[in-house]
Amino acid sequence: KAPLPEIHAEDVAAHNNKERGVWVTYKDGVYDVTDFLEMHPGGASRLMLAAGGAIDPFWAMYQQHNQEEIKSLLEGYRIGSL
Ligand code: HEM
Repeated sequence: KAPLPEIHAEDVAAHNNKERGVWVTYKDGVYDVTDFLEMHPGGASRLMLAAGGAIDPFWAMYQQHNQEEIKSLLEGYRIGSL
């Protein structure tokens, strides 16, 4: 499998709405979570707080994300690395 592309933080930041797509980062991973938005158990609007940026601070606050199942769910949306 081909290595994932490197994506610049500015490119992530530009993807902060449904029209362009909703990208987030977690550690050095970049994820396109547009299709997950409406499935988020915490609601689309909460996920949108992190649109175009890092989810790390939010996940530090909402520790229910700290589970392997959720990390692998997120990994399924990976499109690249910072
Ligand atoms: C719940 C995934 C981003 C706030 C959940 C749950 C999942 C999930 C799977 C259910 C957890 C459980 O019940 O065991 C994700 C993913 C995210 C993301 C994949 C990023 C792509 C965020 C962000 C916030 C947030 C950025 C806050 C700003 C919450 C809250 C709940 C929750 C408050 C609890 C909802 C409830 O039980 O009523 N998330 N989340 N999440 N998430 Fe997220």
